[in-house]
Amino acid sequence: MKSITLNTKLNRLIGEITIPGDKSISHRSVMFGSIAHGETKITNFLPGEDCLSTISCFRKLGVSIEEEDNQIRISGNGIEGLKEPIDVLDVGNSGTTIRLLMGILAGRPFFSSLVGDSSIGKRPMTRVTGPLAKMGAVIDGRNSGSYTPLSIRGGKLNPIQYELPVASAQVKSALILAGLQAEGITQIIEPSETRDHTERMIRQFGGVIDKENKIITVKGGQKLTGATIHVPGDISSAAFFLVAGAIVPGSEIVLKNVGLNPTRTGIIEVLKNMGADLEIISDESDSFEPAGDLVIRTSSLKGTVIEGDLIPRLIDEIPIIALLATQAVGKTIIKDAEELKVKETNRIDTVVNELKKLGASIEATDDGMIINGKSNLHGGTVSSHGDHRIGMMLAIAALVSDGEVFLENPEAIAVSYPNFFEHLKSLTN
Ligand code: S3P
Repeated sequence: MKSITLNTKLNRLIGEITIPGDKSISHRSVMFGSIAHGETKITNFLPGEDCLSTISCFRKLGVSIEEEDNQIRISGNGIEGLKEPIDVLDVGNSGTTIRLLMGILAGRPFFSSLVGDSSIGKRPMTRVTGPLAKMGAVIDGRNSGSYTPLSIRGGKLNPIQYELPVASAQVKSALILAGLQAEGITQIIEPSETRDHTERMIRQFGGVIDKENKIITVKGGQKLTGATIHVPGDISSAAFFLVAGAIVPGSEIVLKNVGLNPTRTGIIEVLKNMGADLEIISDESDSFEPAGDLVIRTSSLKGTVIEGDLIPRLIDEIPIIALLATQAVGKTIIKDAEELKVKETNRIDTVVNELKKLGASIEATDDGMIINGKSNLHGGTVSSHGDHRIGMMLAIAALVSDGEVFLENPEAIAVSYPNFFEHLKSLTN
């Protein structure tokens, strides 16, 4: 699929969709199942390309993983059961796969090499390779270990006390996974709280991890035991339909099974601050990852300011929040979000450039963007630039644009939401 013509100005989106499994939790469930002892069963696994890359890497490390209808069964032999791969480990487009995997491989006494696609080739790896090298792993790669292809020879690790220079759940998780293999106690200090799926997952697999005032403490040498994991829906995928429901006139969408982990719910706060008619209609907070059902209805929206500790709690939602802001009255300012520059694309530039092509009033800043609404968007030719979340944002933008929108590279959407277009279509019937 090289390009598609998208629905133009729609009157309403009505119906109910069940949000597919969370990408971050799906990755981690396979990783922990692969390093635990015994059987792990995962339900509602996300069959997106990124998570399939994680499965493929662990198979190459000798783990037996069976997949059937979004259910996964893993027979784990413990972290010591991982075997030296005879082939390169290809992470595709997935930053989570490569960074977390490096944390695991850092403590394994063998050689591995890691590659990914052209987007992965531009993403900074020193933030992980630097502290892992300090712990004792031998890592090399392009530009002195800064970019893929990377090679890693793991072995005995020293614990570390490390203050993260940027708020990143991927870096934190890589260091936790290495810390689980180090001799002694590893401490990681976060500048702002980031998604805590790794911490929750460790407890689910019978391990111990402590967190107090942004300081995470983990002891090496713990034995993890296989578990049953039910993956809740991905709030980052739900976000596209939350925004669509808020901005397409006359809409009412029920979103079932949305993950409501408080480290991920920044989008809900922003929608409410902007005046959206959003309700949580059921909430299961007692499970290891909270989830619930949401309903969103069209409403009048106003601009807002998004900054500080809120940024890591909605970092992946900023492209769709930018579109939301084009449909709100007044100015929306997004700041403290420099990290957007090192996502699947430079998301400050891609969001601003693509939305401008549809007539939005939006300007890039050094650490975010400023949007002036409300704009009447028009048709045009836009591109995902190979970035799944940019592709979905532009598909939703088409619903409020006058004139046809041609989206180039829509196939990137399969990275995190393979049935996105089916879900969208089901709401228009
Ligand atoms: C993720 C962490 C975030 C996020 C990414 C998934 C994770 O990245 O943007 O989509 O699963 O840990 P950073 O750690 O780079 O902030």
